[in-house]
Amino acid sequence: MEDHLPQSVRVERRPVSERESRAANGPDWDRYADEYQATHGAFLGDAGFVWGPEGHTEDELAILGDVSDRDVLEVGSGAGQCSRWVRIHGGRGFGLDLSHRQLQHSRRLDGETGIGVPSVRGTATDLPFAGASFDIVFCSFGALQFVSDIDDALAEVRRVLRPGGRFAFSITHPTRWMFPDDPGEPGLTATQSYWDRTPYVEVDDASGVVSYVEHHRTLGDWVRLLARHHFVLADLVEPEWPEDHDRVWGGWSRTRGVLTPGTAIFVAHLAA
Ligand SMILES: C[S@@+](CC[C@H](N)C(=O)[O-])C[C@H]1O[C@@H](n2cnc3c(N)ncnc32)[C@H](O)[C@@H]1O
Repeated sequence: MEDHLPQSVRVERRPVSERESRAANGPDWDRYADEYQATHGAFLGDAGFVWGPEGHTEDELAILGDVSDRDVLEVGSGAGQCSRWVRIHGGRGFGLDLSHRQLQHSRRLDGETGIGVPSVRGTATDLPFAGASFDIVFCSFGALQFVSDIDDALAEVRRVLRPGGRFAFSITHPTRWMFPDDPGEPGLTATQSYWDRTPYVEVDDASGVVSYVEHHRTLGDWVRLLARHHFVLADLVEPEWPEDHDRVWGGWSRTRGVLTPGTAIFVAHLAA
């Protein structure tokens, strides 16, 4: 859920199609990109790899394994910080994102760091790459929770991965959907059913147009999705809130983070 809710927007839970999700989220990320990068850019690092608001890095967690000499695709790459980290570590990192403005920030950081991440505008449900092009596909809070047709997205990841390839992604921990998206005490009381998969939707009050969407799947849904698309689940990492970390990001905070997980990182590989 977003940390930039304008006053003229109302929140609903209701079904939304893939077309509607994409039509909302692309322009939303275009509008939000400047503020997002200004607010979170230093925390992410221009060539840093952070898996979530708790601040755990790929250097710490080693989720992807050795990336050197590997073809690596980041889906929902934003300004390409993680893929830039991949490049520094000898991998051929490529980015894909729905938002034109996020990709402009990626180009800006390419210039500022001197580490270019070739990136393309596209959607997770229709990857513009030939089959078996990548050794690793990953998302760090990118794309997956914004997609309605999640089976299409997983089928696409499977198609572009080489046999045995790795797929890792971080998302808002599914249990968080039970709670109000509040970093303080109110965010610790369950008020919604964990099993209610109805999407979170922001609607522009004046026009009635859907302006932002997020989709919820339970932990069991993710396990079944991965199995259905021939992935073998190797790990589910639930990063703990670090001792020395006090940063608030949207609904993520120390108050909640020491009691309940905020991020889930799934680590899987394609059956060889
Ligand atoms: C929370 S950002 C994460 C980006 C980056 N990993 C970071 O930490 O800044 C989510 C990104 O997913 C992108 N996104 C949303 N829906 C998408 C879709 N259907 N396909 C590809 N990217 C999408 C957004 O444009 C945004 O840049």
